[in-house]
Amino acid sequence: MFYGFYFMLVLGIESSCDETGVALYCSERGLIGNALHTQMAMHAEYGGVVPELASRDHIRRLVPLTQACLAEAGADYGDIDAVAYTQGPGLGGALLAGASYANALAFALGKPVLPVHHLEGHLLSPLLADERPEFPFVALLVSGGHTQFMAVRGIGDYTLLGESVDDAAGEAFDKTAKLLGLPYPGGAKLSELARLGTPDAFSFPRPMLHSHDLQMSFSGLKTAVLTAVEKVRAEHGGIAEQTRNDICRAFEDAVIDVLAAKAEKALRDTSFRTLVVAGGVGANKKLRERLSRLTIRPAQGKGRLKKPAEAVQTYFPPMEYCTDNGAMIAFAGAMRAEQAVAAGGFNVKPRWPLTNIVKSAEAV
Ligand code: KG4
Ligand code: ZN
Repeated sequence: MFYGFYFMLVLGIESSCDETGVALYCSERGLIGNALHTQMAMHAEYGGVVPELASRDHIRRLVPLTQACLAEAGADYGDIDAVAYTQGPGLGGALLAGASYANALAFALGKPVLPVHHLEGHLLSPLLADERPEFPFVALLVSGGHTQFMAVRGIGDYTLLGESVDDAAGEAFDKTAKLLGLPYPGGAKLSELARLGTPDAFSFPRPMLHSHDLQMSFSGLKTAVLTAVEKVRAEHGGIAEQTRNDICRAFEDAVIDVLAAKAEKALRDTSFRTLVVAGGVGANKKLRERLSRLTIRPAQGKGRLKKPAEAVQTYFPPMEYCTDNGAMIAFAGAMRAEQAVAAGGFNVKPRWPLTNIVKSAEAV
């Protein structure tokens, strides 16, 4: 559909949860416009995302954000070659707001649309950095809704290696933050307080650390924190600030230990030596430090020759593209340009496993 273009401009629309993102990706110059609005403050009052409010706010923000994005890029509506949008997974109403807008805009411009999988957007977001990973790699998708290891052999070629059997890591961060009385969304705040915590003042379990597979579980960890909090409250009538920081530290250490051990196993199992970390929890500084130092230690065993640990190259998306944004959708859309379809007749997919997406696309 695009053959013959010297370069292509793809507008990306993200509206799967509580961030409205619009970005413009140029196949020649990279990302040239990026506008984002986060609804965090609006939902904070309710302690979590209110789907109906989220949908209405997306509708309010999409047009002004598109205008801001085009202005930043020095582009006009007429310059857009295709409109990419998040088709799923996510909140049904929120997805519909972005999907309707993207289809209406593309229809008005007479241009095609590119339905994008939200997790593919996250997964490819490290390719927006100056230093880009090369295929194949192991991807750790770690967000509020997912914690998965994927073997990535190319665009669209994703094999699920293992995932959380219950809460996602980001969800565990948020729920633990909530029970410690931190404002929504607590993940980032919890991690800030963890920096002030004393190491090993508390110790929480490392769920499924020795499960010999790449499955993970985080809901028990949250319960362990709850038990510790109740014990402290019963003994002291409340929680001192330093004690809360110590609990945050112990919780974060437990999550990171599990993610690092499983990442090492995923790399060992696949024989890949490149790790790519994507999704909101990928913004966690401690996790970034730990995974940047990751090596593959040789298997232990009697009589084996001692081999040195093998080096791993770890890549993260630029900080601003860790959490939801339009840039990753514009980019993923551009990578899948050959799958563009005519605007209209669209549907959204609130539940949609990444392994069910169409394979392969020609990179622009
Ligand atoms: O990818 P994302 O923006 O949305 C989903 O697709 O889920 O991820 C949001 C998640 C939330 O659970 C949030 O608490 C978590 O990422 N998060 C963090 C940090 N920053 C965001 N978790 C731990 N440490 C952080 N610094
Ligand atoms: Zn996300």
